[in-house]
Amino acid sequence: MAETQTSRSHWGSRIGFILAAAGSAVGLGNIWRFPYMAGENGGSIFILLYLACILFLGLPIIVAEVMLGKASQSNPVGAFKALDGPRSPWQVVGFMGVLAAFVILSFYSVVAGWCIGFIYKSVTGVFQPGHSAEEVAAIFGEMVGSVRTQGLCHGLFMILTVGIVLAGVRRGLERWTEILMPVLIILLLLLVGYGLTRPGAMAGLEFMLKPDPSKLTGRTVLDAMGQCFFSLSLGMGAMLTYGSYMRREDRAVGSSFWVVVMDTGIALLAGFAVFPMVFAFGQQPDAGPGLVFKTMPAAFLQMPGGTWVALAFFILLLFAALTSAISLLEVVTAYFIDEFGMSRRTAAVMFGAICFLMGMGCVYGDGYLGFLDNLQGNFLLPVGALFISLFAGWKLDRQIAQVEFEGQWYGVAFGAWRWCIRIAAPLLVLLVILNAWGLFDRLFQG
Ligand code: PHE
Repeated sequence: MAETQTSRSHWGSRIGFILAAAGSAVGLGNIWRFPYMAGENGGSIFILLYLACILFLGLPIIVAEVMLGKASQSNPVGAFKALDGPRSPWQVVGFMGVLAAFVILSFYSVVAGWCIGFIYKSVTGVFQPGHSAEEVAAIFGEMVGSVRTQGLCHGLFMILTVGIVLAGVRRGLERWTEILMPVLIILLLLLVGYGLTRPGAMAGLEFMLKPDPSKLTGRTVLDAMGQCFFSLSLGMGAMLTYGSYMRREDRAVGSSFWVVVMDTGIALLAGFAVFPMVFAFGQQPDAGPGLVFKTMPAAFLQMPGGTWVALAFFILLLFAALTSAISLLEVVTAYFIDEFGMSRRTAAVMFGAICFLMGMGCVYGDGYLGFLDNLQGNFLLPVGALFISLFAGWKLDRQIAQVEFEGQWYGVAFGAWRWCIRIAAPLLVLLVILNAWGLFDRLFQG
């Protein structure tokens, strides 16, 4: 569907927005990053903090972003111009969001490329039943050590992403998300069922459910917050952009609520799939970023038909990553379509190519992926989220916000949202930023 500046495309239905926004939220953040962050941060205590962050930060800020998009019918930069005048300094927040989209997409595509690599290995018999954790780790190490394999997989993933964004709002994003999301949930449920019925799985449940207060540090709190933004695609305008395709008659609040429920539910499902298996198969929960890629296949390959389970799992992860990546490219594409009158085709292809080249840095240089992840998680998203909540709380016309709450426990919900978005959220987010500056490290060390 061609998109012109005068007639902006819209979701075909209320569920269209919910599915697409949930598709953006649910991705590597839930299935790859959430278990490894929880595993590194003591499990249950991290999960508790994460849920608190979802409630006090995620929920109000996602509503704010969707609201800004819907009210402005514009991309992250155009939104601030539309709501605060053409010379508004708040535009900088939108620019940062577009920049964050570039940064995230370039390393996201590399990690998603690992899924393609593992799918290939499952199909071609590289993974064999009974492979030990060490053997799987060696296969993973070999893959990330090869510029050719990694570059190829990363390139392939980017081509898929660009292709879907090219198809436009309805035919592309909405249709894909509607097909992929149920598949993802069913596959995760199957894995949870399998994991929980293994002997020794209960230790994994305990790890997730029994809080160990000795694991609570300032760092854990702040990690949980960062994960909350990343997982809900907040702080850089992805939700704002999807909100801008929302129809006037749909409400930002109810729809956003369901997106948060789905995203959080799937992260927890991923946890319930990962940790019982990690413990049942004698693995370590704090294996770091390699947790999913090293430990899970090792667990799968102990199962009967494990190569098929591995195949299903990495297809699932690839699909989830794809629906997130298209939202990242959509932020950049929408910006250049709206602000520079670029065609969808030119914008998607050009910026997909640029992100591919930026991502190649991760393929060549070891620490580059960590650097980019740090840049977005510790700086771009928190700063973005801080200013988005300040704008929505203190600058945005009260009337515009109020309308979105109509019909949903009107007074209480609006009051709670206003309090969160004006006071609680900005203060809490400030803590994340101070952490990125190392203030807490200094306090806790000494
Ligand atoms: N939320 C996505 C995930 O969990 C990642 C993402 C972040 C997507 C920011 C868009 C914007 O994988």
